Amino acid sequence: MRTHNDRHDRYTQDHAEQRRRPPSLGLGVFQSPPPETVGAVEAAMKTGYRLIDTAAAYANEREVGEGIRRSGLSRDDVFLETKIWISDYGYDATLHAFDKSARKLGVDQLDLLLLHQPVPSVFDRTLEAYRALETLLSDGKVRAIGVSNFMPEHLDRLLAKATVVPAVNQIEVHPYFQQAALQRMHKAHGIVTQAWSPIGGITSYRGMEKRSFDDPTLLASNATRRLLPLRPNEIRRFVVRSRCARPQLRKPQPIRSA
Ligand SMILES: NC(=O)c1ccc[n+]([C@@H]2O[C@H](COP(=O)([O-])OP(=O)(O)OC[C@H]3O[C@@H](n4cnc5c(N)ncnc54)[C@H](OP(=O)(O)O)[C@@H]3O)[C@@H](O)[C@H]2O)c1
Repeated sequence: MRTHNDRHDRYTQDHAEQRRRPPSLGLGVFQSPPPETVGAVEAAMKTGYRLIDTAAAYANEREVGEGIRRSGLSRDDVFLETKIWISDYGYDATLHAFDKSARKLGVDQLDLLLLHQPVPSVFDRTLEAYRALETLLSDGKVRAIGVSNFMPEHLDRLLAKATVVPAVNQIEVHPYFQQAALQRMHKAHGIVTQAWSPIGGITSYRGMEKRSFDDPTLLASNATRRLLPLRPNEIRRFVVRSRCARPQLRKPQPIRSA
């Protein structure tokens, strides 16, 4: 089985240590309303973010593309990743889904394309969708492929059939939920862990009993005091321990102050 981790990072290609990783910190645009997304992405790019994480299901790919264009950065300077939604799983449907996303984003090639989540009840369709990703990779339409929200059993089933090891599994990782066994499995297979909700946003917007943003134990630590207001390097070190993180900072002001 061949891996392609060496293909998917052109930003850090001069830095041997990070050679096989996408940028460690990026902007996620989940729940980002389209009208706000253009300005948020533009502000993030101008602030120094170089990775944008979107998804077909977020319904803001057009605005992400527009924000990147307005930032004035060249396409080569931006690591752009999106996700195929489950309604587009299946070999032909997934190839078509790539065309839709690429057109909306206004690009010919994606840096990373993920399956948004497994569908265990019809896992064959998930496998067919991944096979389409492998085709897109070999055709040069994407620079790397991966998955999201795959648990160990899903990865086992995928790895048994795949010809390309996923470069990335994007999963929920934050102070309350580390998924250590899954992260160990990633390490064993050379899969990069990308953390979603890395600062624990889900504990806030899902109305959970404990919010990471006002947890006394977390707030007592020096690292967390520096987390609020958000500071990307501290977030990366504290919350995800150098794994890739995509905090969501939609509004231009927090992005500028980060
Ligand atoms: N693959 C997946 O299934 C999946 C699932 C979820 C997320 N993701 C990706 O991961 C990205 C980030 O995840 P996320 O949005 O769930 O969580 P997050 O980045 O951990 O947190 C973002 C949330 O925290 C709030 N927040 C930020 N700073 C705060 C502060 N100082 N005090 C209180 N609240 C604060 C934000 O509020 P405001 O909205 O007011 O800024 C936002 O609602 C998403 O944008 C998406 O790209 C992927």
